[in-house]
Amino acid sequence: MSLVAKVVFWFGVVFLTTSPSWGQVSPQRLALCAACHGADGNSQIKGIPSLAAQPKLFLENSLILMREGMREVPAMKGMLDGVTDAEVIELAKFYSALTLATPPADKQADLFNKGEQLASGMRCGICHLPNYVGREQMPRLAGQREDYLLHSLLQFKNNQAVGRDSNMAASVYGVADADLQALSHYLSRITP
Ligand code: HEC
Ligand code: HEC
Repeated sequence: MSLVAKVVFWFGVVFLTTSPSWGQVSPQRLALCAACHGADGNSQIKGIPSLAAQPKLFLENSLILMREGMREVPAMKGMLDGVTDAEVIELAKFYSALTLATPPADKQADLFNKGEQLASGMRCGICHLPNYVGREQMPRLAGQREDYLLHSLLQFKNNQAVGRDSNMAASVYGVADADLQALSHYLSRITP
């Protein structure tokens, strides 16, 4: 091998091994996702969830369900068309390895305490873990955007969460909207 070829070869090896996120995900695709979910997986946009530090399996499942049109996300329509299973796995690996941003410090004590009691009384931690970091197919709730948590809880409660796990509809069946608000505020402001 010529020296130039050696340099190119080793650069390639180092690049691929130090940039696992780009293993099979095209940079163009990541740039598209970043426009809404944030380049570091922390969303700055109302109604759009952060993906950083979500369990890998949860991300894989969600992406497959969205690609197959079972979980409908109008904002992402068509974006996962033709994305291979291998790329789904790489996307999930990439986002699950990112660090969640510190939650906003504007905690409202009354709402936070109410949410904390509700979450423990309603045993949300049985599935999402006691510190709400999630595991396997159960998403992380700790540090997620408050508006997105409330949006999902209302969708589950009102049976509008098409293509999503029915365990959640059962968990929030008949729960007052004000309680869902307290749960969302609490969960969004905790760092495990
Ligand atoms: C135009 C904005 C937009 C773009 C671009 C976008 N998304 Fe989304 N994404 C959303 C919204 C909005 C939701 C939440 C939908 C809901 O549950 O109602 C979402 C939900 C998700 C979820 C589920 C998260 C959860 O906690 O339930 C995943 C995973 C996801 N997007 C991954 C991606 C990936 C990967 C890309 C790039 C291929 C991408 N998104 C591009 C807007 C976007
Ligand atoms: C029996 C297990 C179980 C229990 C108990 C449970 N959850 Fe869940 N939850 C899940 C699963 C599984 C999902 C993923 C649903 C999906 O994506 O289809 C989920 C999803 C969610 C989401 C959507 C998050 C996202 O990023 O899309 C929120 C919010 C949530 N749960 C809140 C709660 C709260 C609050 C409680 C307690 C009142 C609770 N869950 C109790 C299993 C459970």
